[in-house]
Amino acid sequence: MTPFVDLVHLPSEITPGSLTGRVAVVVDVLRASSTIITALDAGASWIKPVAHVKEARSEAESLGGDVLLVGERGGLPPAGFDMGNSPSEFSSDRVLGRGVVMTTTNGTGALLRCHDAKTIWVGGALNGSAVAAKAISIGGPVTIVCAGANSEFSADDVAAAGAIIDSLRKAGGDVSLSDTALAAMRLFLSHADSLADFFGECSHGRRLKEIGLEMDLKICAALNTTGVVPILSGDRLVSG
Ligand code: MLT
Repeated sequence: MTPFVDLVHLPSEITPGSLTGRVAVVVDVLRASSTIITALDAGASWIKPVAHVKEARSEAESLGGDVLLVGERGGLPPAGFDMGNSPSEFSSDRVLGRGVVMTTTNGTGALLRCHDAKTIWVGGALNGSAVAAKAISIGGPVTIVCAGANSEFSADDVAAAGAIIDSLRKAGGDVSLSDTALAAMRLFLSHADSLADFFGECSHGRRLKEIGLEMDLKICAALNTTGVVPILSGDRLVSG
């Protein structure tokens, strides 16, 4: 029997049909999924994830008006972007009631890769218990898709996925886990009291520290600060 909760370490592990009938929860805890959750929590109307910088620029231009163009390459906003990919930038005074076009190195691509899933959500440490409650209420099954970094395994994503799985276990009692999901939960539980420090040991966390973005590790490691579960509706993420 397929487990209630499965986890893939990289979007490239998704094969045709592997997400059919399942909820995909995309986790790019540093930082795209944390930023998406924060932006919708702060009142952004929608976020359109796009794969490439050029495409993002022309999409934002054609939508015009009040739309914000945000994201990163190498951790920093490309030229002409309104904002980067730091959750700290997405306060209500900047995003309330506005649409957002977003492109990031790994996270937005991971979201687009999940098109076969029944439903696509965005998860992280910030909304782990909300994702878990929602998954239990709809009856799963769930595949957590870790975005990784430049096609490589990211331990920070796996630990954040583990936070969601831990909440699922607590909310749903005896939910069955694949071995990858079980390992993620155990990784999270080993670092639950010091998740930001653990992120700082991971390669992606070290890179963010090198470019002066250490504060983001703490922000992205905060547990269960919001009930917002972003959901892809058509080609836009909205607050669920
Ligand atoms: C990504 O999508 O690769 C990340 O969110 C990168 C980052 O800005 O830390």
